[in-house]
Amino acid sequence: MKTITVFKGDGIGPEITDAVLEILKAAKAPLDYEIFRVGEAEYEENGALIPEKAFASFERNKILLKSPITTPVGKGFRSLNVTLREKYDLYANIRPAKSNAAVVTPFKDVDIVTFRENTEDLYVGVEEQIDAGTVHATKIITRRASTRIIADAFAYARAQGRKKVTCVHKANILKKSDGLFLSVFREIAENYPDIEADDKIVDNVCMQLVMRPQQFDIMVMPNLYGDIVSDLTSGLIGGLGLLPSSNLGKDYAMFEAVHGSAPDIAGKNIANPTALLWSACMMLEHLGELDVAAKIRRAVDQVLAEGSCKTPDIGGKATTAEYCSQIIGRF
Ligand code: NAI
Repeated sequence: MKTITVFKGDGIGPEITDAVLEILKAAKAPLDYEIFRVGEAEYEENGALIPEKAFASFERNKILLKSPITTPVGKGFRSLNVTLREKYDLYANIRPAKSNAAVVTPFKDVDIVTFRENTEDLYVGVEEQIDAGTVHATKIITRRASTRIIADAFAYARAQGRKKVTCVHKANILKKSDGLFLSVFREIAENYPDIEADDKIVDNVCMQLVMRPQQFDIMVMPNLYGDIVSDLTSGLIGGLGLLPSSNLGKDYAMFEAVHGSAPDIAGKNIANPTALLWSACMMLEHLGELDVAAKIRRAVDQVLAEGSCKTPDIGGKATTAEYCSQIIGRF
């Protein structure tokens, strides 16, 4: 039995976490859970977004399944997600977007994995008020951080039998910062003659993704582009309810849905738990529990393919609880 840490966040966080834990237990995942409330409610009651004992649990267990947390825009506390990624050096954010034949979108056969650098770029959060009408934000790109995410993208491509890695950048304008990222990409690509390497400017990538997404395989990019472009890839496959992710570092690993706390649908029992569930599958695969992960993935595919039990975001009428019990019924 492996003990993992679970953070229940804000908005739809608690309901999708409960659904996923129920499914993991029904699938007999060999896991014990240390579950913590984090986010706004915890802050209001106890003055900290993440209680110390929750940090301590993650530091002990090294594996975190995390649900979304609300981040106030333009004021208040710093994003907890950014804090976690920095504190535990979770430098590789991996976001696989794969079409599911049962979810109808205008795009077919999408199978793209985004590798997003997770610790620097504009997300270092260094902003300076120069005068009343001027703010500067600092974008940081280092050889060290670029090297490890790009090397991971190529290693993943080789290990998974993928064909191509595309570097996404804006080096035509940001000649030094994105220029460094691109030059590191070209250096590392030399070591992988078996994998096709190309690069594209981020605005062109957005256009190409909606015109011909099938041309992309693995994409690697700095933090901000990765955040935005991977949301775009979720739109290609049916929305944020279907995009899981892992955040990996040398010592720690965190698994979470790409979507936020979805306050517009919180508490209505209609949130799609699939993104968090597939994140849990990525976690099981990371832990070597391939059979349980495959069992859950199979059950989800069966329920989606059968068609009568889908949540509203992907065109159905089912509640979170109904969808969850259908999945459990397939084990
Ligand atoms: P969001 O991802 O929460 O919602 C965007 C749209 O997608 C909404 O219409 C929502 O209903 C829908 N949606 C998202 N997840 C869904 C699901 N599982 N099932 C069905 N529909 C779903 O993005 P938004 O509204 O920009 O952000 C809300 C809050 O979440 C903000 O405070 C933001 O900072 C935070 N956030 C947190 C993240 C995290 O904790 N990892 C990531 C992104 C945003």
